[in-house]
Amino acid sequence: MPEIITFGNQKGGVGKTTTVINLSDALGRDGYRVLTIDADPQGNSTSILLKEIGLREEFSLVKALEALPEDANLSSMACATSNDNVDIIPNTIRCMLWERTAANTPDAILGFLRLSRHDAGLAKYDFILIDTPPNIGAMVNNALMLSDYAVVPIPTSDQFALDGLATFLRLLQNIRSQNGKLRLMGVLLTKYDARATVYVKNRERIINFFSGKGIHIFKTTIRYNVDIDRAHMKRKTILEFDPANYSSKDYAALAKEIAQIVEKEKARK
Ligand SMILES: Nc1ncnc2c1ncn2[C@@H]1O[C@H](COP(=O)(O)OP(=O)(O)OP(=O)(O)O)[C@@H](O)[C@H]1O
Ligand SMILES: [Mg+2]
Repeated sequence: MPEIITFGNQKGGVGKTTTVINLSDALGRDGYRVLTIDADPQGNSTSILLKEIGLREEFSLVKALEALPEDANLSSMACATSNDNVDIIPNTIRCMLWERTAANTPDAILGFLRLSRHDAGLAKYDFILIDTPPNIGAMVNNALMLSDYAVVPIPTSDQFALDGLATFLRLLQNIRSQNGKLRLMGVLLTKYDARATVYVKNRERIINFFSGKGIHIFKTTIRYNVDIDRAHMKRKTILEFDPANYSSKDYAALAKEIAQIVEKEKARK
């Protein structure tokens, strides 16, 4: 079965989507088969990765959740991206309505598990990466229930994101009582600028703080780069937009680091 990783943080704009799309591309370039699930009704990963954007009405996560139980699974919603090793399950804003109607049903937390339980089509993937919205609602709960790991992106100088982290860690702990395999893989520092002393100091402060709590901080730090926005405007990952770019190198390094962590954990089991 694939390794399933949720990228979550209820704070908005911390780099969840940017991490998921670029890491998916980087893992794909390393030869891994990747399924990216856009669990955010905003559909930001969808708008970058989905090759034929018109397909999002026909194939989507929300459509799988709404399908009759006998027809429903995840892998039948997978669509192509421009990387042959990467597929995406798109999402649309309609998912917000689903979240409301599902609020008091088992699917509010168990929907993704239900869709994956007898889904033989998932076995061909090495990784499933899930992009989540900036809240702690149904999509995030569902994603964590399905996952082996959670990764929390945090901008290097965003005190508010740090302040909000306790809430996300509490959610992880709650979900872990029902999904025993879920582990916090680590905190990923994003939007780092080594030219600004405040960033350098903050990075050290954050690393010391989390290490003291036994929380892993990824060795790879994602540097600040306006080219990331440029790539998004062209609806491309940074690796597609400019493979030689330093951000492409950051995500390639992160892909290697994550693959290594997963291999180590597999060997330990
Ligand atoms: N390393 C970076 N350098 C510069 N800009 C970045 C970087 N990473 C992300 N951004 C920009 O920051 C903004 C927020 O990033 P992103 O959409 O990935 O965050 P998010 O956590 O997914 O947001 P949301 O919570 O709304 O889903 C985007 O405009 C993105 O282009
Ligand atoms: Mg996002």
